[in-house]
This record gives sequence, C-alpha cells and structure tokens, in this order.
Amino acid sequence: MNPNKALWEKGDFTRIASSMRESGEALVRRIGIKKGMKVLDLGCGDGTTAVPAAKLGAEVLGVDIARNLVEAGNRRAQEMGLENCRFQEGDATNLREIPDQSFDLVMSIFGAMFAPKPHDVAKEKVRVTRPGGRIVMGNWIPGDPTLVAQVLKISSAYTPPPPEGFVSPMTWGVESHVVDRFGAAGVPAEKITFDRDTYTFNYPGRPAEWLGEFRNYYGPTMNAFEAAEKSGRGAELQKELEDLFARQNRSGREDVTSIPATFLRVTVAL
Ligand SMILES: C[S@@+](CC[C@H](N)C(=O)[O-])C[C@H]1O[C@@H](n2cnc3c(N)ncnc32)[C@H](O)[C@@H]1O
Repeated sequence: MNPNKALWEKGDFTRIASSMRESGEALVRRIGIKKGMKVLDLGCGDGTTAVPAAKLGAEVLGVDIARNLVEAGNRRAQEMGLENCRFQEGDATNLREIPDQSFDLVMSIFGAMFAPKPHDVAKEKVRVTRPGGRIVMGNWIPGDPTLVAQVLKISSAYTPPPPEGFVSPMTWGVESHVVDRFGAAGVPAEKITFDRDTYTFNYPGRPAEWLGEFRNYYGPTMNAFEAAEKSGRGAELQKELEDLFARQNRSGREDVTSIPATFLRVTVAL
C-alpha cells in the first residue's frame, strides 16, 4: 500500500475539516471563483473548498488520494444537490486520468503539499491548467508560531526520523522551494506571487476536546501518538499539545475553540 495513501485513509479527516468550513468558504470567495469556471481541487479531502466553489457556480472536480474522503465528498455534494461537483481518487504526483490544459483554476489548500515528489506535483499542476489560467496553493509554513506548523513540529519530535530521501511537506511553505519547483515545470518566478493568509478553525467544544479529534482521526497526529506511546512518551505529547491548543484559543471562552493559523498562499499565473 502507498504509505501516503495509507496515512490519509488511516483516520477520518472529515472530523478536522468540520472545523474549517467557514474558512474554506471565505477563501474561495477571496480567490475569485466565478460561475462556469472549471476548477480542479487537488488533495480536496471531503470538499472544504470544492463544495463552496461549486456553490459559487464553478464546475468542480475534487481529486484526493484517500478513498474514504472521496466517498465523503461525493456524499456531501449529493446531499447538497450539487451536480457541478464530483470527487474522484487520484494522486497529485501523477494525474494520468486528467488531460492537458483542462482547468481554468487548479487549487490545492493544504492538499498537494502532503504528496511526495514535489517537483512532479508542480509539473502536473502546470500541465492540467490552461494557458491564462491560475494555480492557487495554500501551504503551512515551517517554523510559523501558529497552530498547524506547531502541531507538526511538536509531533515530529516524537516520531522516528523519516526515511532517506523524504522531502518534508513543510518545504512547500518556503518561497524559494516553490519558485524552484514551478521553475522546473517551466514557470518563470515573476509569474508567482505570495501572500500570508489565515484559516480559522472553529470547534464547538474545549480546545482539549478538539485535540482529541486530532489524536483519534488526523493521520499524522495518530502516528505521532502511536510512536510516542511506544517510547512511553504519550502523556508528554498530550500535555505539550494540550498546552499549545489552549494557548492558541482566541474564542475568549474555555468551552469553545477558535484558533487562527497562518499559511502561505501561492498564486501562479500561467
Ligand atoms: C490536510 S488534508 C486537507 C484536505 C482539504 N484540502 C481541506 O482543506 O479540507 C490533506 C489532504 O491531502 C490529500 N493528499 C495527500 N497526499 C495526496 C496525493 N499524493 N494526492 C492527492 N491527495 C493527497 C489527503 O488525502 C488529504 O485529504
């Protein structure tokens, strides 16, 4: 089994994505999705951005490596009566089922950054976008003090070192790497722009309860806890993350969680 696929099918990302719906909607409005636009959402999960893009009238295809999330996305689209939104399984490193230049916009919000072989990912995105179209990526930033970068950083201290040749997904949050990867795919640096943007996670419970969703359903955190428990450090990891989640909560209440997180928004104009 492809370890990248296994990681994301292990849990149930819908449990985390439920806290991202408002930010997903706000983002697709900000990036100018219009009626009739052909949009590919790569690493779409269960449709945090694909579904609101379709609600704005775009023709949306969501592609994700995790079968359970593709099924969840199709279920959500069906329940909402969105005939212009469908989801299928696929790998961002090789979109073999998608013809060249078939989309006006290829977006990938915290999605394709998690695929291995980042140069292949950039090449595939460029290939399936039409000339004059756009690619928009949302990437977490290494070393950023906000939530997701910190969760991944803390977790990595409890997990064994990755295999030789592994490229950290967080390198997509470094501008020079982004320029290098799209450059190798034939895109000059002046076609790429960078903005700092924010997603706010909203959860109707205490920060520690929301951490429980990560521990039980978010593949990377599940793996971190499994590794930490093997070395007798599970309680230590729990404490470190509980402190982080409580510190970052901006809801002004202890029983509700609202946590903003900064990301790098990359726009490539083709
Ligand atoms: C952090 S989740 C984000 C999901 C969604 N974009 C959202 O904002 O809710 C990362 C997603 O990337 C998908 N993914 C990881 N590697 C992938 C790959 N090689 N090809 C396609 N999707 C991938 C995972 O299955 C998962 O759904």
